[in-house]
Amino acid sequence: MDDEPEIEHLKIHFHSGFQKTLYFYAVLFVDALKEDGTGLSSQGLAGGVPVLVLKEGSSRSRGKEAQHTNIMAAKIVAETVKSSLGPKGMDKMLVDSFGDVTITSDGRTILDEMDIQHPAAKMMVEVAKTQDNEAGDGTTTAVIVTGELLSKAEDLVEKNVHATIIIDGYKKASERALEVLEKMAIPVDIEKQDYAKKVAMTSMASKLVAEHREYLADMSVKAILAVAEKEGGKYKADVDDVKVEKKSGESTQETKLIQGIVLDKDVSHSGMPKRVEKAKIALLDCSLEIEKTEFDAKINIESPDQMEAFLKQEEDMLRDMVEKIVKVGANVVLCEKGIDDMAQHFLARKGILAVRRIKKSDVEKLAKATGGKIVTKLDSITAADLGYANLVEERKVGDDKMTFIEGCKHPLAVTILIRGATQRIVDEAERSIHDALCVIRDVVEEPKVVAGGGAPELEVSRQLKKYAETLPGREQLAVRCYAEALEVIPMTLTENAGLDPIDILSELRARHEKGETWAGIEVLSGKVQDMSKTGVFEPLSVKKQIIKSATEASCMILKIDDVIAAGKMRTPPTPPGGGMPPGGGYPGMGEY
Ligand SMILES: Nc1ncnc2c1ncn2[C@@H]1O[C@H](COP(=O)(O)OP(=O)(O)OP(=O)(O)O)[C@@H](O)[C@H]1O
Ligand SMILES: [Mg+2]
Repeated sequence: MDDEPEIEHLKIHFHSGFQKTLYFYAVLFVDALKEDGTGLSSQGLAGGVPVLVLKEGSSRSRGKEAQHTNIMAAKIVAETVKSSLGPKGMDKMLVDSFGDVTITSDGRTILDEMDIQHPAAKMMVEVAKTQDNEAGDGTTTAVIVTGELLSKAEDLVEKNVHATIIIDGYKKASERALEVLEKMAIPVDIEKQDYAKKVAMTSMASKLVAEHREYLADMSVKAILAVAEKEGGKYKADVDDVKVEKKSGESTQETKLIQGIVLDKDVSHSGMPKRVEKAKIALLDCSLEIEKTEFDAKINIESPDQMEAFLKQEEDMLRDMVEKIVKVGANVVLCEKGIDDMAQHFLARKGILAVRRIKKSDVEKLAKATGGKIVTKLDSITAADLGYANLVEERKVGDDKMTFIEGCKHPLAVTILIRGATQRIVDEAERSIHDALCVIRDVVEEPKVVAGGGAPELEVSRQLKKYAETLPGREQLAVRCYAEALEVIPMTLTENAGLDPIDILSELRARHEKGETWAGIEVLSGKVQDMSKTGVFEPLSVKKQIIKSATEASCMILKIDDVIAAGKMRTPPTPPGGGMPPGGGYPGMGEY
């Protein structure tokens, strides 16, 4: 309190609002001079008129301190996923609050499953999400590059280079990096060459299912090509059009591509046929049940006859519903809602196969595949609404029964049915197949590839260093840092493979200097090689997205010089051992 008395001992009589305002600024000024850096704190002078600016429990950090904490948090996140990069990377075992275990090496999944709290660290999770949504692969790389860009920026901040200069430099560097990538990329012909399979194999090389990658890559290529549509000489494909179902049991090698849709549901009644050929399918978005009224109604039944009539009426209504379906000639009913037991019985009597409570997204896929229309009101169903498939059949998969709809009218529909020894393997296989489908889509839509193994990162880095020399002043430093940051990828791949990063990196730099654009580290053999000859290829769009996401996120984090966090809402007292950290703010952000 010793540094405050100058104002504290002043006796102030307010005569006007203006004087009050002056006093307020005086408080802020003295407050800002406090040595502990608390500055604009939640209260003004003790003993004087309190000036409350922030709520009690709020926390604030700013200037270099804020930058430092944010960068530190982001670096920690990057460090966490580093060891899982590349084919020799390790997996992570994540246990959530319910005790559910996930084993994965997928960057996005790791960060999603970790319950991250720090706001800057959360931005790293966003980087992985954006990368996943835009390109589908390269999430680990994007997070590592962001971490490294920030780490290099921190060195510059320490040397008193202003954040704005760094940001400008980074933006310039990223534009140049994109140009370099575009120039060095190899254009491919998807129809004649098997690059789609190669990129899929590269993306699966670093996953648990790597052993089966050739088989799974083939299957994924077929799946994407089946759903891809050609428009004006260009392909367009939607990964969501490929339905993925999973069931533990057998081995990953038993994963199958089914030309049609597979539903994780059985036929709803044991009396129904389990197999219908030349299926005419009614797709319903309405229930085959007696709807309950919204208001309570009481019916007084005075005699057994009345009771019987009442039940009969219900039965007739259900029979009517089924009759409408029979009339239009349907022999299969696929329903999004419920089907009453009685209605099931009537359907079975008519030899109709019915499946109920199908997911909305699946019904939509079925409509696309079978050419049917989803019927919302049974009264309006017509024969034209029915979809067609060669075969609808219930089959046993593992312990469960699933319904297969094959030979659909539209050949667009495919399902990958994933099998694997345990649930964890099946889950990881699903994630890996998702990555594979995404990279195939990427390369089908933009048919350009780059070789992997850190070769593109090193080449871009080399060219950026040259570019930096043409720039004046401090921006040069920022572009150089950007270039150096990209080297983290070959370096991490090398480290994860247990090789010596210094030797390998010097060799790589030397070979790139000699003009070997595709010199990279082939981690399986442990040697520096021409990666374009090893079959390790990745879509250009994945690499471009990495540059974009990493630059944007790192610049965003760098631009923050003030973190003001509101105090948390008071929660009821928790038992000892649990609860919030004292003060309520985010840990590591300084408390006032
Ligand atoms: N045989 C190989 N030799 C060297 N590097 C390889 C090889 N196969 C793949 N890579 C490299 O591994 C990296 C990809 O690793 P990984 O799939 O673990 O991470 P990611 O794609 O960035 O993230 P995620 O797959 O988790 O979304 C790429 O840089 C790729 O070039
Ligand atoms: Mg990958």
